[in-house]
Amino acid sequence: MSSNIKNIAVFTSGGDAPGMNAGIRAVVRTALHYNLNVFGIGRGYDGMVNNDIFPMDAKSVANIIQRGGTILKTARSEEFRTVEGRRRAYENLQKHGIDGLVAIGGDGTFTGAAKFIEEHNIPVIGLPGTIDNDLAGTDFTIGYDTAINTVIDAVDKIRDTAESHDRVFVVEVMGRDSGLIALRSGISVGAECVLIPEIKVNYEAMMDRLDRTRKNKASRVIIVAEGDEVGGAFAVAERIKERFPQYDLRVSILGHIQRGGSPSCMDRVLASRLGVAAVEALLEGRRGEMAGLIHGKIAFTPFDKAIKHISTINENLLSIVDILSS
Ligand code: F6P
Repeated sequence: MSSNIKNIAVFTSGGDAPGMNAGIRAVVRTALHYNLNVFGIGRGYDGMVNNDIFPMDAKSVANIIQRGGTILKTARSEEFRTVEGRRRAYENLQKHGIDGLVAIGGDGTFTGAAKFIEEHNIPVIGLPGTIDNDLAGTDFTIGYDTAINTVIDAVDKIRDTAESHDRVFVVEVMGRDSGLIALRSGISVGAECVLIPEIKVNYEAMMDRLDRTRKNKASRVIIVAEGDEVGGAFAVAERIKERFPQYDLRVSILGHIQRGGSPSCMDRVLASRLGVAAVEALLEGRRGEMAGLIHGKIAFTPFDKAIKHISTINENLLSIVDILSS
């Protein structure tokens, strides 16, 4: 371990995700393992700007690995977007002698971190914490597995009532720019159609499929990512209603339940592994990179590459929906 780092701080930023607490716990306990002092920062960059910075110890992270949300709280900070805000944040870190940071969040978090390093030359390592799974440099982000399992649980229940009433349901899931929640959960619930922002909708094909599958199925479920080009579940439902006014159709928006809940085993292990790796990376002198897991191995990706994730939708997965929906 080659760096002179003595005092590190951890914070969560952007939308929360199940498993963030497991990540905080791993960072704090790893820091203590290497005899570092460790601080928490409340409400992400906002807390950095406003000096909401406090020491943490092994006890501060006891009994949190199973909890959803983030004990450090999170925010989207307007002040940190300004040069003056970032200067104040840096001065506050200096007051506590903090010489390394672990940032848990998504693309907004890493964009801010890259700017901060550029202006103030402080080492920052990131952990991918977002339910959207929309970062390059990791096969999965912390929170994604739990979120898709929440979706599955909800849609299985919707399917029960849909089947009893012979209904068509349009279910909206999260994902402003990314269809990855919709795609995997869609396959898992046996959805008849999946609409995602990355792929242009073929309406004719969709209507044909709805009509065709009616022969074999009492219920049909269409999963729509909130950022799809049609404009969400209500817009999709309207189009279907125009074409098939006879359908008994309902819309269900799953919303923020997807962001909560106890993290899955996958997310707890992922967050624990990446938390350890992040602290060790700081001690090895790394900076400006996100720790991720690629094919089961720890990998580091510069922030600018991690956030330039062009959603590489595996079209095979979409064709699985097609093949299996009949
Ligand atoms: O980025 C995570 C996410 O949950 C997106 O899927 C969603 O579009 C967005 O955050 C919602 O953000 P907010 O909680 O600010 O409404």
